[in-house]
Amino acid sequence: MQKNILVIYYTQTGQLEDIVKKIAEPFENKDGYQITYYPIRLKKDFPFPWPSDVFFETFPESYLQIPQEILPPPEDVLNKKFDLILFGYQVWYLTPSIPIISFLKSGYAENILKNTPIVTISGTRNMWMFSQEKLKVYLNNMQAKLIGNIALVDRHDNYTSVLTILRWLTTGKKEKSTWLPAAGISNKEIAESIKYGKIIKKHFDNNNFQHLQTELVSNGAVEIRPFLVRVEKVGNKIFTIWSNLIIKKKEKRPLLIKFFKVYLMTAIWIISPIVLIFHILLAPILRSKRLKEKKYLQGINLK
Ligand SMILES: Cc1cc2nc3c(=O)[nH]c(=O)nc-3n(C[C@H](O)[C@H](O)[C@H](O)COP(=O)(O)O)c2cc1C
Repeated sequence: MQKNILVIYYTQTGQLEDIVKKIAEPFENKDGYQITYYPIRLKKDFPFPWPSDVFFETFPESYLQIPQEILPPPEDVLNKKFDLILFGYQVWYLTPSIPIISFLKSGYAENILKNTPIVTISGTRNMWMFSQEKLKVYLNNMQAKLIGNIALVDRHDNYTSVLTILRWLTTGKKEKSTWLPAAGISNKEIAESIKYGKIIKKHFDNNNFQHLQTELVSNGAVEIRPFLVRVEKVGNKIFTIWSNLIIKKKEKRPLLIKFFKVYLMTAIWIISPIVLIFHILLAPILRSKRLKEKKYLQGINLK
């Protein structure tokens, strides 16, 4: 009997589309499988490249998961029962992006995702860990079955990737320049991500997903950098305060967004190196706690 596979994603730069298509490749043009691609579309999409003010303007709604209207998914997505879903998403401000949240809150999502095995696939700069926790809650509430997770990131150091991603997102320039490497996830890593598709297919064909995530992790699908976990935790606390303040004080919004931008740059370039020093100093004391946390974040369960 034919197996139906649905690939859901949103992308501005094309990066996430390249990733999900590579991972879906082992199912492509094979007897017994039919793949449907569903790119989420907003009624009014975000610009790319981003004008710098729009990029920062998007912060409060993004972080507070305020949805926008999406175009209805095509009939062949709405009327078919799928056997497996590959769910591609990116992170905006430590949260699944507005287009992804808009789909999840659209009323279409539950019908599509309910009772279906799902592998989540993120393509981000490097801070996706607590977005995945936020996504797990949505999937759990819709009774979708999370069976695997793959997190592709920019492997450069945190500071280099901030510089290259800001250049990429605000000018569209992804390629390397005299001083900086290319932005985003490397072409090599995207090309090699076909290996995750092969692993998924093997477990899918055996009709047993019990050890899927363990095999994905042992093949490099989920790297956890403990320092970034710390930064994300602090970041989520501070973003909660900023986003609520900006939303509440409507009349002061332009000014507050300007302050937020200055704050964000200070946090990245001045506060985070200080956090890094403490992180290193506390390493011997927090070793086992961090190991436990790493294991949890590499997994698919929800605390
Ligand atoms: C507004 C905005 C905020 C972003 N915030 C984060 C973030 O918090 N963490 C992260 O790892 N990447 C972040 N990114 C990078 C995206 O997750 C993604 O990798 C990048 O935008 C590539 O675009 P695409 O997936 O739409 O093609 C952000 C991007 C945008 C546009």
